[in-house]
Amino acid sequence: MGITEKTKGAQPDIVMDLKNLYVSIDRTELLKHIDMRIEKEEVVALVGESGSGKTLTSKFILGILPERSVVSYDKFYKTPKTGAVFQNSFTSLNPTVKIGSQLMRLYQSHYGETDNWKRKVVPLLEKAGIQNIDKFLKKYPHESSGGERQRVAIAGALISNPDLLIADEVTTALDLRTKLEVIKLFKNIRKELGITILFITHDLSSIKDFANRVYVMYKGEIVEENTCEELFRHQTHPYAKRIIGFANSLWTRDR
Ligand SMILES: Nc1ncnc2c1ncn2[C@@H]1O[C@H](COP(=O)(O)OP(=O)(O)OP(=O)(O)O)[C@@H](O)[C@H]1O
Ligand SMILES: [Mg+2]
Repeated sequence: MGITEKTKGAQPDIVMDLKNLYVSIDRTELLKHIDMRIEKEEVVALVGESGSGKTLTSKFILGILPERSVVSYDKFYKTPKTGAVFQNSFTSLNPTVKIGSQLMRLYQSHYGETDNWKRKVVPLLEKAGIQNIDKFLKKYPHESSGGERQRVAIAGALISNPDLLIADEVTTALDLRTKLEVIKLFKNIRKELGITILFITHDLSSIKDFANRVYVMYKGEIVEENTCEELFRHQTHPYAKRIIGFANSLWTRDR
């Protein structure tokens, strides 16, 4: 498999542009005809049911698909500075190493030194809503809550100053209050740091009032793309009709 970044023809306000992506693994077609384009400072949501191909799409963008994948596309450009936060932040942290040491190593992997790691990392943890930071850095991952670990993962993804941040199911394992706090954090990141966000989720409530545009994925294909506002008003594909209809009925009932 060879994934090469084609930077030719990229426009300055585009952080990711993908045309006609196809991926198969072990002779099973998993992604087909994927077109996706993300402009600077947009929040783009990628929604779809479990197994529809959302994480595979993010893995392609990050260049971390399994070696045995068969991949083709007509065009692929992405900004070289891309960060990611995944579903289970616990798995991205080593349980036997204190959180501070892990963040220091992460800083070192980007900047090649450790002298200034706290100057970079502490403000990011503050921004991410971590309190008592000095004490927190001395904790092991299991001594923190799920919400705190997710905040650490988000702060960690920002160490390299990414232009594009891919967030894959970052609110899935969180309770409602923490989920709302994490979404608020992403809104701030976008506003204050001007970072473009690809927000992957199967939870439609988390993208309302947040995403500018939405791609709906179904069985490995993008079946609908629209602004968030328009999508909630009008859908074409039966799957999009089903999930938006369901979400709208829940909200109507809640009011
Ligand atoms: N490494 C892999 N090898 C083989 N098949 C894979 C691999 N990773 C994912 N798949 C398959 O690709 C399909 C899409 O998986 P993917 O993880 O992208 O789904 P998803 O939309 O992210 O689902 P979820 O909402 O549950 O996270 C699934 O059928 C899955 O079994
Ligand atoms: Mg997934």
